[in-house]
Amino acid sequence: MAREQAAVLTGGAREIAPATGKLGVMLVGLGAVSTTFIAGVENVRRGRALPIGSLSQMATIRLGRRTEKRMPKIKDFVPLADLNDLVFTAWDPIPDDAYTAAVKAGVLDRHEHLDPIKPFLQGIKPMPAVFDQYYVKRLQGTNVKRGKNKRELAEQLREDMRTFKKSAGVDRLVVVWCASTEVFLTPGPAHQSLQAFEQAMEQNDQSIAPSMLYAYAALMENVPFANGAPNLTVDLPVMERLAEERHVPIGGKDFKTGQTMMKSVLAPAFKARMLGLSGWYSTNILGNRDGEVLDDPESFKTKEESKLGLLEHILQPDLYPELYGKVYHKVRINYYPPRGDNKEGWDNIDIFGWLGYPMQIKVDFLCRDSILAAPIVLDLALFFDLAGRAGLSGIQEWLSFYFKSPQFAQGLYAEHDLFIQQTKLKNTLRWMMGEEQITHLGIEYYEYAEK
Ligand SMILES: NC(=O)c1ccc[n+]([C@@H]2O[C@H](COP(=O)([O-])OP(=O)(O)OC[C@H]3O[C@@H](n4cnc5c(N)ncnc54)[C@H](O)[C@@H]3O)[C@@H](O)[C@H]2O)c1
Repeated sequence: MAREQAAVLTGGAREIAPATGKLGVMLVGLGAVSTTFIAGVENVRRGRALPIGSLSQMATIRLGRRTEKRMPKIKDFVPLADLNDLVFTAWDPIPDDAYTAAVKAGVLDRHEHLDPIKPFLQGIKPMPAVFDQYYVKRLQGTNVKRGKNKRELAEQLREDMRTFKKSAGVDRLVVVWCASTEVFLTPGPAHQSLQAFEQAMEQNDQSIAPSMLYAYAALMENVPFANGAPNLTVDLPVMERLAEERHVPIGGKDFKTGQTMMKSVLAPAFKARMLGLSGWYSTNILGNRDGEVLDDPESFKTKEESKLGLLEHILQPDLYPELYGKVYHKVRINYYPPRGDNKEGWDNIDIFGWLGYPMQIKVDFLCRDSILAAPIVLDLALFFDLAGRAGLSGIQEWLSFYFKSPQFAQGLYAEHDLFIQQTKLKNTLRWMMGEEQITHLGIEYYEYAEK
Protein backbone atom coordinates (compact mmCIF):
# COMPACT_ATOMS: atom_id res chain seq x y z
CA MET A 1 0.00 0.00 0.00
CA ALA A 2 2.74 2.45 1.03
CA ARG A 3 4.56 1.70 -2.21
CA GLU A 4 1.41 2.32 -4.31
CA GLN A 5 0.85 5.69 -2.65
CA ALA A 6 4.45 6.64 -3.18
CA ALA A 7 4.15 5.86 -6.87
CA VAL A 8 1.19 8.24 -7.14
CA LEU A 9 3.11 10.96 -5.35
CA THR A 10 6.32 10.68 -7.30
CA GLY A 11 5.00 9.81 -10.76
CA GLY A 12 8.55 9.22 -12.00
CA ALA A 13 11.36 11.68 -12.51
CA ARG A 14 10.91 14.85 -14.54
CA GLU A 15 12.91 15.31 -17.63
CA ILE A 16 15.70 17.74 -16.80
CA ALA A 17 18.10 19.04 -19.41
CA PRO A 18 21.69 18.50 -18.23
CA ALA A 19 23.72 21.43 -16.89
CA THR A 20 26.19 21.33 -19.74
CA GLY A 21 28.29 24.37 -20.60
CA LYS A 22 28.52 27.58 -18.63
CA LEU A 23 25.85 29.49 -16.72
CA GLY A 24 25.92 33.28 -17.01
CA VAL A 25 24.82 34.96 -13.78
CA MET A 26 23.67 38.49 -14.54
CA LEU A 27 23.31 40.63 -11.43
CA VAL A 28 21.35 43.84 -11.37
CA GLY A 29 23.39 45.97 -8.98
CA LEU A 30 27.04 45.50 -8.11
CA GLY A 31 26.91 46.58 -4.48
CA ALA A 32 27.53 44.85 -1.15
CA VAL A 33 25.46 41.72 -1.76
CA SER A 34 26.60 41.13 -5.35
CA THR A 35 30.30 41.62 -4.67
CA THR A 36 30.17 39.46 -1.53
CA PHE A 37 28.50 36.77 -3.59
CA ILE A 38 30.92 36.94 -6.54
CA ALA A 39 34.06 37.19 -4.42
CA GLY A 40 32.75 34.41 -2.20
CA VAL A 41 32.19 32.02 -5.11
CA GLU A 42 35.65 32.76 -6.48
CA ASN A 43 37.26 32.12 -3.07
CA VAL A 44 35.35 28.85 -2.82
CA ARG A 45 36.40 27.86 -6.34
CA ARG A 46 40.02 28.43 -5.41
CA GLY A 47 39.64 26.30 -2.29
CA ARG A 48 40.22 29.29 -0.01
CA ALA A 49 36.86 29.21 1.83
CA LEU A 50 33.65 27.24 2.30
CA PRO A 51 30.21 28.16 0.88
CA ILE A 52 28.63 28.33 4.33
CA GLY A 53 24.93 29.18 4.32
CA SER A 54 24.30 27.64 0.91
CA LEU A 55 21.89 24.69 0.85
CA SER A 56 22.77 23.87 -2.72
CA GLN A 57 26.42 23.34 -1.75
CA MET A 58 26.35 22.14 1.86
CA ALA A 59 22.98 20.53 2.63
CA THR A 60 22.09 16.88 2.33
CA ILE A 61 18.70 15.47 1.43
CA ARG A 62 17.21 12.33 2.93
CA LEU A 63 15.85 9.86 0.39
CA GLY A 64 13.52 6.95 1.16
CA ARG A 65 13.07 5.47 4.62
CA ARG A 66 15.29 6.48 7.53
CA THR A 67 16.60 2.92 7.64
CA GLU A 68 17.95 3.24 4.08
CA LYS A 69 20.47 5.85 5.19
CA ARG A 70 20.53 7.52 1.77
CA MET A 71 21.54 11.13 2.34
CA PRO A 72 23.36 12.59 -0.62
CA LYS A 73 24.33 16.22 -0.84
CA ILE A 74 21.73 18.21 -2.79
CA LYS A 75 24.37 19.11 -5.36
CA ASP A 76 25.07 15.43 -5.95
CA PHE A 77 21.36 14.58 -6.13
CA VAL A 78 20.03 17.14 -8.62
CA PRO A 79 21.88 18.27 -11.76
CA LEU A 80 22.95 21.76 -10.70
CA ALA A 81 25.46 23.92 -12.54
CA ASP A 82 28.94 23.49 -11.10
CA LEU A 83 30.47 26.52 -9.38
CA ASN A 84 33.35 26.36 -11.87
CA ASP A 85 30.86 26.91 -14.68
CA LEU A 86 29.49 30.21 -13.35
CA VAL A 87 30.39 33.40 -15.21
CA PHE A 88 29.38 36.75 -13.72
CA THR A 89 28.38 40.15 -15.01
CA ALA A 90 26.36 43.06 -13.63
CA TRP A 91 24.70 46.37 -14.35
CA ASP A 92 25.18 49.34 -12.03
CA PRO A 93 24.79 53.12 -12.36
CA ILE A 94 28.01 53.46 -10.33
CA PRO A 95 30.92 52.55 -12.63
CA ASP A 96 33.14 50.86 -9.99
CA ASP A 97 34.47 47.43 -10.94
CA ALA A 98 33.75 44.53 -8.59
CA TYR A 99 37.02 44.94 -6.69
CA THR A 100 36.51 48.66 -6.00
CA ALA A 101 32.84 48.10 -5.16
CA ALA A 102 33.72 45.27 -2.76
CA VAL A 103 36.38 47.38 -1.02
CA LYS A 104 33.89 50.25 -0.65
CA ALA A 105 31.20 47.91 0.64
CA GLY A 106 33.64 46.84 3.36
CA VAL A 107 32.09 43.44 3.93
CA LEU A 108 34.93 41.05 3.14
CA ASP A 109 38.42 41.32 4.52
CA ARG A 110 40.51 42.96 1.83
CA HIS A 111 43.70 41.05 2.51
CA GLU A 112 42.12 37.67 3.05
CA HIS A 113 39.33 37.55 0.49
CA LEU A 114 39.70 40.39 -2.04
CA ASP A 115 43.37 41.07 -2.82
CA PRO A 116 44.19 37.44 -3.70
CA ILE A 117 41.52 37.57 -6.44
CA LYS A 118 41.96 41.22 -7.39
CA PRO A 119 42.47 40.80 -11.16
CA PHE A 120 39.42 38.53 -11.36
CA LEU A 121 37.25 41.10 -9.57
CA GLN A 122 38.67 44.00 -11.54
CA GLY A 123 37.66 42.18 -14.69
CA ILE A 124 33.99 42.53 -13.76
CA LYS A 125 32.96 46.01 -14.80
CA PRO A 126 29.30 46.97 -14.62
CA MET A 127 27.35 47.58 -17.80
CA PRO A 128 25.45 50.88 -17.90
CA ALA A 129 22.25 50.53 -15.91
CA VAL A 130 18.68 51.48 -16.55
CA PHE A 131 18.43 53.88 -13.66
CA ASP A 132 16.21 56.79 -12.70
CA GLN A 133 16.66 58.66 -9.46
CA TYR A 134 12.92 59.10 -9.15
CA TYR A 135 12.78 55.44 -8.01
CA VAL A 136 15.84 55.46 -5.70
CA LYS A 137 16.10 58.92 -4.23
CA ARG A 138 19.36 58.58 -2.32
CA LEU A 139 21.49 57.41 -5.25
CA GLN A 140 23.21 59.21 -8.06
CA GLY A 141 24.73 57.37 -10.98
CA THR A 142 26.69 58.21 -14.09
CA ASN A 143 26.89 54.79 -15.70
CA VAL A 144 23.39 55.01 -17.09
CA LYS A 145 21.74 54.07 -20.38
CA ARG A 146 20.04 56.68 -22.54
CA GLY A 147 17.06 56.01 -24.75
CA LYS A 148 14.05 57.78 -26.16
CA ASN A 149 11.63 55.84 -23.99
CA LYS A 150 11.46 52.95 -21.51
CA ARG A 151 10.78 50.42 -24.22
CA GLU A 152 14.00 51.36 -25.94
CA LEU A 153 15.86 50.99 -22.64
CA ALA A 154 14.38 47.52 -22.17
CA GLU A 155 15.52 46.63 -25.69
CA GLN A 156 19.06 47.73 -24.74
CA LEU A 157 18.93 45.38 -21.76
CA ARG A 158 17.85 42.53 -24.04
CA GLU A 159 20.79 43.33 -26.28
CA ASP A 160 23.13 43.22 -23.23
CA MET A 161 21.85 39.73 -22.45
CA ARG A 162 22.41 38.47 -25.97
CA THR A 163 25.85 40.06 -26.20
CA PHE A 164 26.99 38.66 -22.85
CA LYS A 165 25.77 35.22 -23.78
CA LYS A 166 27.84 35.30 -26.93
CA SER A 167 30.97 37.04 -25.64
CA ALA A 168 31.22 34.98 -22.44
CA GLY A 169 30.44 31.79 -24.32
CA VAL A 170 27.72 30.79 -21.87
CA ASP A 171 24.97 28.30 -22.52
CA ARG A 172 22.27 29.70 -20.29
CA LEU A 173 21.55 32.87 -18.32
CA VAL A 174 19.89 33.75 -15.06
CA VAL A 175 19.18 37.25 -13.69
CA VAL A 176 19.10 38.11 -9.98
CA TRP A 177 18.02 41.57 -8.81
CA CYS A 178 20.54 42.64 -6.14
CA ALA A 179 20.04 46.36 -6.71
CA SER A 180 18.65 49.02 -4.41
CA THR A 181 15.10 49.03 -3.14
CA GLU A 182 12.87 51.22 -5.27
CA VAL A 183 10.11 53.53 -4.02
CA PHE A 184 6.78 52.00 -3.07
CA LEU A 185 4.48 51.29 -6.02
CA THR A 186 1.21 49.38 -6.27
CA PRO A 187 0.07 47.37 -9.30
CA GLY A 188 -1.92 49.54 -11.72
CA PRO A 189 -3.54 49.34 -15.16
CA ALA A 190 -0.14 49.31 -16.93
CA HIS A 191 0.74 46.04 -15.17
CA GLN A 192 -2.29 44.02 -16.19
CA SER A 193 -1.41 42.88 -19.71
CA LEU A 194 1.53 42.78 -22.08
CA GLN A 195 -0.13 45.22 -24.43
CA ALA A 196 -0.78 47.75 -21.64
CA PHE A 197 2.77 47.29 -20.31
CA GLU A 198 4.43 47.81 -23.69
CA GLN A 199 2.30 50.85 -24.39
CA ALA A 200 3.15 52.26 -20.95
CA MET A 201 6.88 51.75 -21.64
CA GLU A 202 6.53 53.71 -24.87
CA GLN A 203 4.74 56.51 -23.03
CA ASN A 204 7.33 56.59 -20.24
CA ASP A 205 4.59 55.86 -17.73
CA GLN A 206 5.79 56.50 -14.16
CA SER A 207 4.31 53.24 -12.94
CA ILE A 208 7.01 51.36 -14.88
CA ALA A 209 10.06 51.22 -12.60
CA PRO A 210 13.53 50.29 -13.88
CA SER A 211 13.35 46.89 -12.15
CA MET A 212 10.32 46.04 -14.30
CA LEU A 213 12.31 46.79 -17.44
CA TYR A 214 15.01 44.32 -16.39
CA ALA A 215 12.32 41.73 -15.62
CA TYR A 216 10.57 42.28 -18.94
CA ALA A 217 13.87 42.08 -20.83
CA ALA A 218 14.82 38.82 -19.09
CA LEU A 219 11.47 37.18 -19.77
CA MET A 220 11.52 38.25 -23.41
CA GLU A 221 14.95 36.60 -23.66
CA ASN A 222 13.60 33.48 -21.87
CA VAL A 223 15.90 34.06 -18.92
CA PRO A 224 14.79 33.16 -15.34
CA PHE A 225 14.49 36.17 -13.01
CA ALA A 226 14.75 36.22 -9.20
CA ASN A 227 14.06 39.39 -7.25
CA GLY A 228 16.07 39.97 -4.07
CA ALA A 229 14.54 43.32 -3.15
CA PRO A 230 10.98 44.15 -2.10
CA ASN A 231 10.08 46.05 -5.32
CA LEU A 232 7.13 44.65 -7.27
CA THR A 233 9.27 43.82 -10.34
CA VAL A 234 8.02 40.33 -11.30
CA ASP A 235 5.18 40.32 -8.76
CA LEU A 236 2.75 41.67 -11.33
CA PRO A 237 0.03 40.03 -13.44
CA VAL A 238 1.81 40.97 -16.67
CA MET A 239 5.06 39.32 -15.57
CA GLU A 240 3.36 36.20 -14.22
CA ARG A 241 1.51 35.72 -17.49
CA LEU A 242 4.57 36.45 -19.59
CA ALA A 243 6.61 33.96 -17.59
CA GLU A 244 3.95 31.28 -18.04
CA GLU A 245 3.61 31.96 -21.76
CA ARG A 246 7.34 31.91 -22.38
CA HIS A 247 7.95 28.98 -19.97
CA VAL A 248 10.37 30.93 -17.80
CA PRO A 249 10.68 30.64 -13.99
CA ILE A 250 10.28 33.79 -11.88
CA GLY A 251 10.31 34.52 -8.16
CA GLY A 252 10.67 37.03 -5.37
CA LYS A 253 10.59 39.07 -3.36
CA ASP A 254 13.23 40.31 -0.93
CA PHE A 255 15.96 37.97 0.34
CA LYS A 256 15.00 36.51 3.72
CA THR A 257 18.16 37.05 5.74
CA GLY A 258 18.50 38.44 9.29
CA GLN A 259 15.62 39.65 11.38
CA THR A 260 12.86 38.31 9.16
CA MET A 261 14.50 34.89 9.00
CA MET A 262 14.45 34.83 12.82
CA LYS A 263 10.81 35.94 12.81
CA SER A 264 9.88 33.13 10.46
CA VAL A 265 11.43 30.69 12.95
CA LEU A 266 10.12 32.16 16.22
CA ALA A 267 6.54 33.00 15.22
CA PRO A 268 5.75 29.42 14.08
CA ALA A 269 7.19 28.17 17.41
CA PHE A 270 4.76 30.36 19.38
CA LYS A 271 1.88 29.23 17.24
CA ALA A 272 2.91 25.58 17.46
CA ARG A 273 2.69 25.83 21.29
CA MET A 274 -0.46 27.99 21.22
CA LEU A 275 1.29 30.85 23.00
CA GLY A 276 -0.25 34.28 22.50
CA LEU A 277 1.46 37.37 21.13
CA SER A 278 0.62 40.94 22.05
CA GLY A 279 3.48 42.86 20.48
CA TRP A 280 6.61 42.56 18.37
CA TYR A 281 8.87 45.56 18.09
CA SER A 282 11.78 45.23 15.66
CA THR A 283 14.41 47.84 15.10
CA ASN A 284 17.68 47.83 13.18
CA ILE A 285 20.77 49.96 12.89
CA LEU A 286 22.51 49.62 9.58
CA GLY A 287 25.24 51.72 7.98
CA ASN A 288 25.75 50.44 4.45
CA ARG A 289 24.44 51.94 1.20
CA ASP A 290 21.31 49.83 1.49
CA GLY A 291 20.69 51.47 4.87
CA GLU A 292 21.18 54.88 3.30
CA VAL A 293 18.72 54.09 0.49
CA LEU A 294 16.21 52.75 3.03
CA ASP A 295 16.56 55.98 5.01
CA ASP A 296 14.37 57.50 2.31
CA PRO A 297 10.76 57.08 3.51
CA GLU A 298 9.54 55.97 0.08
CA SER A 299 12.07 53.14 -0.25
CA PHE A 300 11.52 52.23 3.41
CA LYS A 301 7.78 51.90 2.77
CA THR A 302 8.52 49.20 0.17
CA LYS A 303 10.71 47.36 2.68
CA GLU A 304 8.24 47.82 5.53
CA GLU A 305 5.39 46.23 3.56
CA SER A 306 7.63 43.26 2.84
CA LYS A 307 8.66 42.86 6.49
CA LEU A 308 5.22 43.37 8.06
CA GLY A 309 3.15 40.87 6.11
CA LEU A 310 4.74 37.74 7.48
CA LEU A 311 3.49 37.70 11.09
CA GLU A 312 -0.12 37.98 10.04
CA HIS A 313 0.29 35.11 7.56
CA ILE A 314 2.04 32.87 10.05
CA LEU A 315 -0.19 33.58 13.04
CA GLN A 316 -3.59 33.53 11.29
CA PRO A 317 -5.40 35.92 13.68
CA ASP A 318 -8.72 35.08 11.99
CA LEU A 319 -8.39 31.49 13.23
CA TYR A 320 -6.92 32.40 16.65
CA PRO A 321 -8.41 35.77 17.65
CA GLU A 322 -7.75 35.18 21.40
CA LEU A 323 -4.05 34.62 20.75
CA TYR A 324 -3.22 36.85 17.80
CA GLY A 325 -6.18 39.18 17.35
CA LYS A 326 -4.40 42.22 18.82
CA VAL A 327 -0.74 42.12 17.86
CA TYR A 328 1.14 45.42 17.78
CA HIS A 329 3.84 44.93 15.13
CA LYS A 330 6.37 47.65 14.39
CA VAL A 331 9.49 47.55 12.19
CA ARG A 332 12.11 50.31 12.06
CA ILE A 333 15.35 50.61 10.08
CA ASN A 334 17.75 53.33 11.21
CA TYR A 335 20.65 54.44 9.06
CA TYR A 336 23.71 54.55 11.32
CA PRO A 337 26.94 54.81 9.26
CA PRO A 338 29.49 53.57 11.85
CA ARG A 339 28.07 50.05 11.63
CA GLY A 340 28.56 49.60 7.89
CA ASP A 341 27.23 46.24 6.72
CA ASN A 342 27.27 44.83 10.25
CA LYS A 343 23.67 45.39 11.11
CA GLU A 344 22.28 45.04 14.58
CA GLY A 345 18.67 43.93 14.75
CA TRP A 346 16.79 44.05 18.05
CA ASP A 347 13.48 42.39 18.67
CA ASN A 348 11.34 42.85 21.72
CA ILE A 349 8.63 40.21 21.73
CA ASP A 350 5.72 40.29 24.18
CA ILE A 351 4.08 36.91 24.44
CA PHE A 352 1.57 35.44 26.88
CA GLY A 353 0.95 31.95 28.20
CA TRP A 354 -1.30 29.88 30.48
CA LEU A 355 -4.17 32.01 31.84
CA GLY A 356 -2.79 35.02 29.99
CA TYR A 357 0.42 35.58 32.02
CA PRO A 358 2.83 37.83 30.09
CA MET A 359 6.43 36.97 29.18
CA GLN A 360 9.10 38.69 27.11
CA ILE A 361 11.77 37.55 24.69
CA LYS A 362 14.63 39.79 23.51
CA VAL A 363 16.65 38.97 20.44
CA ASP A 364 19.78 40.93 19.61
CA PHE A 365 21.13 39.69 16.30
CA LEU A 366 24.53 41.15 15.45
CA CYS A 367 24.49 39.97 11.90
CA ARG A 368 26.29 40.73 8.68
CA ASP A 369 23.74 41.49 6.06
CA SER A 370 25.63 40.57 2.93
CA ILE A 371 27.22 37.49 4.54
CA LEU A 372 23.68 36.18 5.03
CA ALA A 373 22.49 37.26 1.58
CA ALA A 374 25.39 35.97 -0.58
CA PRO A 375 24.61 32.23 -0.24
CA ILE A 376 20.97 33.00 -1.02
CA VAL A 377 22.01 34.61 -4.30
CA LEU A 378 24.05 31.52 -5.13
CA ASP A 379 21.23 29.10 -4.36
CA LEU A 380 18.70 31.18 -6.27
CA ALA A 381 20.92 31.38 -9.35
CA LEU A 382 21.45 27.61 -9.31
CA PHE A 383 17.88 26.61 -8.48
CA PHE A 384 16.31 29.01 -10.97
CA ASP A 385 18.59 27.61 -13.64
CA LEU A 386 17.56 24.10 -12.57
CA ALA A 387 13.87 25.06 -12.66
CA GLY A 388 14.30 26.33 -16.21
CA ARG A 389 16.00 23.11 -17.32
CA ALA A 390 13.28 21.08 -15.58
CA GLY A 391 10.59 22.87 -17.59
CA LEU A 392 9.06 24.66 -14.58
CA SER A 393 7.65 28.05 -15.44
CA GLY A 394 6.04 31.02 -13.72
CA ILE A 395 6.19 31.47 -9.93
CA GLN A 396 8.52 29.01 -8.19
CA GLU A 397 6.75 28.67 -4.87
CA TRP A 398 9.17 25.94 -3.77
CA LEU A 399 11.84 28.65 -3.51
CA SER A 400 9.78 30.67 -0.96
CA PHE A 401 12.45 29.55 1.52
CA TYR A 402 14.67 32.37 0.29
CA PHE A 403 12.18 35.25 0.29
CA LYS A 404 10.69 37.57 2.88
CA SER A 405 7.58 38.10 0.89
CA PRO A 406 7.21 35.06 -1.36
CA GLN A 407 5.15 35.24 -4.51
CA PHE A 408 2.22 32.84 -4.81
CA ALA A 409 -0.44 31.92 -7.32
CA GLN A 410 -3.80 33.66 -7.31
CA GLY A 411 -6.19 32.25 -4.73
CA LEU A 412 -3.40 30.98 -2.45
CA TYR A 413 -1.52 32.64 0.37
CA ALA A 414 2.19 32.77 1.06
CA GLU A 415 3.88 30.15 3.21
CA HIS A 416 6.32 31.92 5.56
CA ASP A 417 7.29 29.26 8.11
CA LEU A 418 10.98 28.58 7.40
CA PHE A 419 10.72 24.85 8.09
CA ILE A 420 7.61 24.32 6.00
CA GLN A 421 9.42 26.21 3.25
CA GLN A 422 12.44 23.95 3.66
CA THR A 423 10.26 20.84 3.48
CA LYS A 424 8.58 22.22 0.37
CA LEU A 425 11.97 22.86 -1.24
CA LYS A 426 13.34 19.41 -0.51
CA ASN A 427 10.12 17.65 -1.47
CA THR A 428 10.14 19.50 -4.78
CA LEU A 429 13.67 18.24 -5.43
CA ARG A 430 12.55 14.69 -4.56
CA TRP A 431 9.54 15.09 -6.85
CA MET A 432 11.73 16.35 -9.70
CA MET A 433 13.98 13.32 -9.37
CA GLY A 434 11.17 10.76 -8.97
CA GLU A 435 11.90 10.02 -5.30
CA GLU A 436 9.21 9.45 -2.63
CA GLN A 437 7.90 12.47 -0.74
CA ILE A 438 8.82 12.50 2.92
CA THR A 439 5.73 13.04 5.04
CA HIS A 440 7.40 12.50 8.45
CA LEU A 441 4.50 10.22 9.39
CA GLY A 442 6.96 7.54 10.53
CA ILE A 443 4.31 4.95 11.44
CA GLU A 444 5.95 2.35 9.22
CA TYR A 445 8.85 1.97 11.66
CA TYR A 446 6.70 0.67 14.52
CA GLU A 447 5.50 -2.83 15.19
CA TYR A 448 1.78 -1.98 15.10
CA ALA A 449 2.06 -0.67 11.54
CA GLU A 450 0.91 -2.94 8.69
CA LYS A 451 3.95 -4.58 7.20
N1 LIG B 1 21.80 42.08 2.51
C1 LIG B 1 20.68 41.64 2.93
O1 LIG B 1 20.60 40.99 3.97
C2 LIG B 1 19.44 41.90 2.12
C3 LIG B 1 18.28 41.25 2.49
C4 LIG B 1 17.12 41.45 1.74
C5 LIG B 1 17.16 42.29 0.66
N2 LIG B 1 18.29 42.96 0.34
C6 LIG B 1 18.22 43.86 -0.79
O2 LIG B 1 19.24 43.57 -1.71
C7 LIG B 1 19.55 44.77 -2.42
C8 LIG B 1 21.05 44.93 -2.45
O3 LIG B 1 21.56 45.18 -1.17
P1 LIG B 1 23.05 45.74 -0.99
O4 LIG B 1 23.35 45.73 0.45
O5 LIG B 1 23.94 45.05 -1.94
O6 LIG B 1 22.86 47.25 -1.46
P2 LIG B 1 23.97 48.21 -2.13
O7 LIG B 1 23.41 49.59 -2.00
O8 LIG B 1 25.32 47.93 -1.60
O9 LIG B 1 23.97 47.75 -3.66
C9 LIG B 1 22.91 48.02 -4.52
C10 LIG B 1 23.50 48.44 -5.84
O10 LIG B 1 22.43 48.56 -6.78
C11 LIG B 1 22.74 49.63 -7.63
N3 LIG B 1 21.53 50.05 -8.32
C12 LIG B 1 20.53 50.83 -7.90
N4 LIG B 1 19.59 50.96 -8.83
C13 LIG B 1 20.00 50.22 -9.89
C14 LIG B 1 19.46 49.95 -11.17
N5 LIG B 1 18.31 50.48 -11.55
N6 LIG B 1 20.15 49.14 -12.01
C15 LIG B 1 21.32 48.59 -11.62
N7 LIG B 1 21.88 48.81 -10.43
C16 LIG B 1 21.23 49.62 -9.57
C17 LIG B 1 23.36 50.67 -6.71
O11 LIG B 1 24.13 51.60 -7.41
C18 LIG B 1 24.20 49.79 -5.79
O12 LIG B 1 25.52 49.65 -6.25
C19 LIG B 1 18.82 45.91 -1.70
O13 LIG B 1 17.61 46.21 -2.39
C20 LIG B 1 18.48 45.30 -0.38
O14 LIG B 1 17.34 45.88 0.21
C21 LIG B 1 19.45 42.76 1.04
